[in-house]
Amino acid sequence: MDAFSVATSDPASAERQARGSEARFDIFDKCSTAEGNFGPQRQSGDTYFTRPLLDDKPGPRMHFDGRECVMWSVNDYLGFAGDPELRRIAAATAAEWGASGPMGSRMMSGTTTPHLDLERSLADLCGKPDSVLFNYGYLGVLGTIQALTEPDDILVMDKMSHACIVDAARMSATGRNLRVFRHNDLASLERLLKSVQTRRKGGVLILTEGIFGMTGDCAPLDGIVELKEKYNARLFVDDAHGFGVVGPDGRGASALHGVMDKTDIYFSTFAKAFASIGGFSASEHSVVEWIKYNARSQVFAKSLPMIFVKTAQRTLELMATDGDERRRRMWHMSRLLAEGLRSMGFEVQHVPSPVVPVLLPSARVVDCMTWSRYLRQRGIFVSPVVYPVVPRGMALFRMIPTASHTEADVEETLAGFRALRDEFSLDLAVDPQVVRTVYGPDAATIGQDYARMAG
Ligand SMILES: Cc1ncc(COP(=O)(O)O)c(C=O)c1O
Repeated sequence: MDAFSVATSDPASAERQARGSEARFDIFDKCSTAEGNFGPQRQSGDTYFTRPLLDDKPGPRMHFDGRECVMWSVNDYLGFAGDPELRRIAAATAAEWGASGPMGSRMMSGTTTPHLDLERSLADLCGKPDSVLFNYGYLGVLGTIQALTEPDDILVMDKMSHACIVDAARMSATGRNLRVFRHNDLASLERLLKSVQTRRKGGVLILTEGIFGMTGDCAPLDGIVELKEKYNARLFVDDAHGFGVVGPDGRGASALHGVMDKTDIYFSTFAKAFASIGGFSASEHSVVEWIKYNARSQVFAKSLPMIFVKTAQRTLELMATDGDERRRRMWHMSRLLAEGLRSMGFEVQHVPSPVVPVLLPSARVVDCMTWSRYLRQRGIFVSPVVYPVVPRGMALFRMIPTASHTEADVEETLAGFRALRDEFSLDLAVDPQVVRTVYGPDAATIGQDYARMAG
């Protein structure tokens, strides 16, 4: 593991190293220090940046700090969060089942026909033989990877994978059985796959996101599939940000690359495009059955509540009828926003997802906070994304255009960014090395390919 991955997966490790041999005999001692994730913000009781107080219902406009803001930090890609029909179904299911139903884990007393029907529908949409539900995406990734891997298996993970993949990998593999390849870098992946062959005593599982939620780029899944076949490995794709959003009928990043059939385990969550809670892994039948019996995060946890099962089923139906129109609106907003920002000089990569990643010319936390405060004070809510979520030396405003945004929202936002650029006399150029670190060695040409793929 390299420094970035260690920091991402174990934020306390740097502080432990800095403390040297000084021991602590009370596990609570650290809680009164500025250590840990965003320690200074935690100590100051921050509710502006790290845990902003947003009591509103999620949507394109929300109230923050006493004013209405255009909201760019909610992953409601298809605009389902405010859908009146889904709210009615949620209310009717709550009236019938309450918050308690069903009770028990799937193995004991928590399996119902609607659970099985939803698993069938998800599998059908993905073109996979079967699927299994989880209560959260995070728990699904943990459970799936833990269930399928044994101590001799080797996990090979993209460096910018989401924390749940990192945690699952750390839980399931130790030491040199966990290898990290450079983000979206096929040569780096191949080097690792080749190097693990000689001492191989078990299986090899490649772990990656499909659409990367922070940077909006996509794993080169066609190339990864070629390598996994060449080196006799399996592939797990966490497509939290791609499912419902990209590819034909919203079937996600694997379908976008035409490799759904070769994606051994396709995973997604309902927390993004479905604007709900829950997740699933889709794969061949025997694999899904194995996961059902062996994924500890689900075997030893209560089943997904009916309210989420019923709304997810209806969301799938709505996606089939008006998904294309929702995606068209989402893409329209995404292009307007990205092109408007580019034309002002902001560094926005071409990516195959609607995510608009605005790379910032300074990675200093204090600069990012100042700029984001400036925008929020003008009614534009953006969240700075800094190390360790992205590699050291880079920072960005990760903006999520949705089907619910309007052209007026985009115009207001562009005016705010223009004011920001002028007020701070920003030189918007970003170090090309930073762009390459994030978007891979072929950032420039891949960017053009992405623009074509996105249509
Ligand atoms: C790539 C990725 N995987 C998994 C998750 C976790 O999903 P959930 O919120 O359903 O636990 C997220 C959410 O942030 C994510 O972005």
